[in-house]
Amino acid sequence: LQVTQLMEESAGLRRANCRAKGAAPGFKVAILGAAGGIGQPLALLMKINPLVSVLHLYDVVNTPGVTADISHMDTGAVVRGFLGQPQLEEALVGMDLVIIPAGVPRKPGMTRDDLFKINAGIVRTLCEGIAKSCPKAIVNLISNPVNSTVPIAAEVFKKAGTYDPKRLLGVTTLDVVRANTFVAEVLGLDPREVDVPVVGGHAGVTILPLLSQVKPPCSFTPPEIDYLTSRIQNGGTEVVEAKAGAGSATLSMAYASVKFADACLRGLRGDAGIVECAFVASQVTELPFFASKVRLGRTGAEEVLPLGPLNEYERAGLEKAKQELAESIQKGISFIKK
Ligand code: NAI
Repeated sequence: LQVTQLMEESAGLRRANCRAKGAAPGFKVAILGAAGGIGQPLALLMKINPLVSVLHLYDVVNTPGVTADISHMDTGAVVRGFLGQPQLEEALVGMDLVIIPAGVPRKPGMTRDDLFKINAGIVRTLCEGIAKSCPKAIVNLISNPVNSTVPIAAEVFKKAGTYDPKRLLGVTTLDVVRANTFVAEVLGLDPREVDVPVVGGHAGVTILPLLSQVKPPCSFTPPEIDYLTSRIQNGGTEVVEAKAGAGSATLSMAYASVKFADACLRGLRGDAGIVECAFVASQVTELPFFASKVRLGRTGAEEVLPLGPLNEYERAGLEKAKQELAESIQKGISFIKK
């Protein structure tokens, strides 16, 4: 262990010298739940990300193996592993960004809300750690049900006196990624050219694609709108059923999570014009949390952008989404307040 420590220290010194010579400084990122189905490919992709200088991998199982494996990649980020709750605080000290894919995933026949019982407690514990060790970090919350876990995290941070709504973001990027893919298929375009805003939340009818605002501008027939809306809302279930008990989306989610984390890091760096959809504290509707486009900057979600004009179909969808969202948000708040 001593030898490893010495090697790390000397490597640290050399890296500091290297930075002094003008190498770009990076950000410190922690992944909580790093040994899981999402966590592992997410760790791999963050290790490749040039904006990351330090990558902390935390889980309650298997982090030594995942850390040893990932740490052999010849990319810039220094990787360290942390195992079990006694090491949580150490994993979090000094982090700029914390990504949370910890918790159980769905099995066929389950809704995201069915995960509440287990994941609510996990998210509470992890957020208590964040409040203590890195209260200024940006938090990307992936654990489902996102519509409830984000309000849970907010309440934990409020209790600890560290809550900054700009720094707490529920990750809904996979809904946008799916929407871009499915819409591109219908239009016969490259998905990279397509941009579909998806607002509301991250479960069933709360996932509201705004097909009237697709870029490049286009129009759909009513059957296409029904097909696309339903496929985007049920994309997660499509994967859960195809995996037949072996979990939910992990690979596409790791991709989506990195896309979002990278946008957050570019915002932190001070890049201009970074806009992504996310589930955040919001005044866009009467609900305290809502997913919509946000502008990311040095302090997190610096601006929550308005929904823009909705057509009649989308207005009806919004009303449905709000009903379910209100309940999920309240459920999260009550979990901490009780
Ligand atoms: P998984 O079961 O493969 O991995 C979860 C990991 O969390 C495991 O390694 C487990 O040991 C770890 N974990 C459990 N309790 C923990 C604790 N107290 N502290 C730290 N780590 C802990 O699950 P998977 O497939 O990676 O999914 C993780 C979560 O992400 C689920 O809640 C799932 O529903 C959610 N998800 C969210 C999506 C989104 O778009 N926001 C999309 C897909 C999944």
